[in-house]
Amino acid sequence: MLKGSKVGLRARHEDDIPILQAELHDDVVTHSRSYGQPWRPITPGSKDSQFVVDDKEQGHVPFSVVELDGGTLVGTATLWRIDNHNRSAHIGLGLLPSARGKGYGTDVVAVLCHYGFVVRGLQRLQIETLSDNAAMLRSAERNGFVREGVLRSSAWVMGEFLDEVLLGLLVQDWKPDSQS
Ligand SMILES: CC(C)(COP(=O)(O)OP(=O)(O)OC[C@H]1O[C@@H](n2cnc3c(N)ncnc32)[C@H](O)[C@@H]1OP(=O)(O)O)[C@@H](O)C(=O)NCCC(=O)NCCS
Repeated sequence: MLKGSKVGLRARHEDDIPILQAELHDDVVTHSRSYGQPWRPITPGSKDSQFVVDDKEQGHVPFSVVELDGGTLVGTATLWRIDNHNRSAHIGLGLLPSARGKGYGTDVVAVLCHYGFVVRGLQRLQIETLSDNAAMLRSAERNGFVREGVLRSSAWVMGEFLDEVLLGLLVQDWKPDSQS
């Protein structure tokens, strides 16, 4: 398990899936704001759940996020579109509603940076989030990500086009443990 100061990132367990499905996927608004895909209902136990892991998929590394104190599941974290030629990847995360606003998101970004830069030897990490997602923007910026641009009207979300912010962090600018 990879450890931050409050949370750990471990492999996905079978019994995580129904919880993630109910708390994250089945919340239509959160799903629509987070995943860039049209929401549709998924049958319980379906292999089509976005939380089912394909261990052979090399470019996409999903983790379950747990509290270090007690091991309770609190969300998901993913390093995705890993590009070993350009040595870059994207970061994504989603916390259960009861786990938000406790500093876990900031800690998850820190652990994903450690995984991306130290374990995987990447040079650049990237995050895209809606421009009104204050908690995600702050979680990224506290870890040193900088806003590189606005993708105007790039996301169709529940009946309207919204702007996304593109944030990037280069390994040489990364200060582990800073979170300032
Ligand atoms: C976005 C998300 C991962 C952030 O994680 P979090 O644990 O809630 O965030 P933190 O508690 O680490 O807070 C980070 C910062 O944002 C601020 N913040 C938290 N919630 C906020 C809110 N609703 N509005 C404004 N600021 C907020 C915190 O005060 C903190 O700032 P500070 O460090 O200056 O005090 C989490 O809220 C979440 O899973 N949301 C739903 C899914 C989602 O949006 N995923 C991202 C898709 S790109």
